[in-house]
Amino acid sequence: MELFDVYPLYDITPVKGEGCYVFDENGKKYLDLYGGHAVISVGHAHPSYVKAIQEQASQLGFYSNSIKNPLQQELADKLEKVSGVQDYALFLCSSGAEANENALKVASFHTGKDRVIYFENAFHGRTSGVVAITDNESIKAPFNLGHKATKLAFNDTESLKNEIKKGDVAAVIFEIIQGVGGLDEADSDFYRSAAELCKENQVMLIADEVQSGYGRTGDFFAFQKHGIRPDIITMAKGMGNGFPIGGILTDTNIQAKYGMLGTTFGGNHLACAAGISVLDIIQQEKLMENAREVSEYVKAEAAKIPDIKKIKGRGLMIGLEFDFEIASLRKELLLEHQVFTGASSNRKLLRILPPLNITREHFESFFSAIKKVLKNQQIDKIASSCPEASGDSASLQNLKSKILRS
Ligand SMILES: Cc1ncc(COP(=O)(O)O)c(C=O)c1O
Repeated sequence: MELFDVYPLYDITPVKGEGCYVFDENGKKYLDLYGGHAVISVGHAHPSYVKAIQEQASQLGFYSNSIKNPLQQELADKLEKVSGVQDYALFLCSSGAEANENALKVASFHTGKDRVIYFENAFHGRTSGVVAITDNESIKAPFNLGHKATKLAFNDTESLKNEIKKGDVAAVIFEIIQGVGGLDEADSDFYRSAAELCKENQVMLIADEVQSGYGRTGDFFAFQKHGIRPDIITMAKGMGNGFPIGGILTDTNIQAKYGMLGTTFGGNHLACAAGISVLDIIQQEKLMENAREVSEYVKAEAAKIPDIKKIKGRGLMIGLEFDFEIASLRKELLLEHQVFTGASSNRKLLRILPPLNITREHFESFFSAIKKVLKNQQIDKIASSCPEASGDSASLQNLKSKILRS
């Protein structure tokens, strides 16, 4: 049977992971500065995470949401403690898109309204409702276009106010730092005004923390820096360090009702064991502090590289923006220097989303690799603009060696 061919693939087959590295089938080692799209929070194959999953699998991997599962409460209590976000209720599911779908549904149930406001460059997932509020027309099927969704410019309080005043808005949803969109963050004033406008007009404010949450920015949730209290917070990616788990946090004024939400797999025993272990490791190993410290170093080093025009993001959610498109830089980093990095819809931006226990030393090897790649690209550029290089590839190679020696 063939695989449904929707992913363009690199010709690399990782078979093992350890900390901030993955290894292919020939034992070749890759530095993971991407965490498989911001998923690896506590590092590959962390021993206590592995032990927690193994032990749970040997006891009870799964039973349905129609029985008592004390692990869900343990996860909720730990999440409250580690995140510092108090008095919300937790509903567990299995992915980021599912978390956002449930958040939209709760907002619509709670307000009795049906229109959702989202922002330029937003990415909220690929299922029906959330792809409708994602700023990428090419991934919307005709079936997805029936939702009432309005796109506004990010950071534009005035147009948000005008839309909300129309009275039919159920929810406003944003990523505090846009991930797929290219690491843009609005001003604190925008987030605060949005929170106030939502409160005044009985609109649910949804913070999509699927990518930016779980310590990635150095705070547990990225919104915490802006001093707001969203009505609903959505989470996934780093929550299970690779085990599929997502969730939403709902504020106390939102009333749950039997049957309002539901899922077969969400909150199962194995997922909870993974989620609890991730929170324990984040706390015990002080990974949020580490994210802040390492981030400072990365930003300072990046600022020394003239080709990097802008440094975006916070903690270990970092975007390095060049004044050229980074596709070949990324490819060379991966194939010549074995460093995984990410792209975004901003083609000039290199996305860095490593495990949160990464160290300065790992980044030293990244910076040494990136400097080599940039130097090579510069030599290529000079060499190909020389008249001597117009011959065969051997003469071009000769010329490059000459430039390198000079
Ligand atoms: C901010 C944000 N929200 C939602 C999603 C969707 O998550 P998932 O791929 O787990 O459905 C993503 C995935 O990249 C994301 O970055």
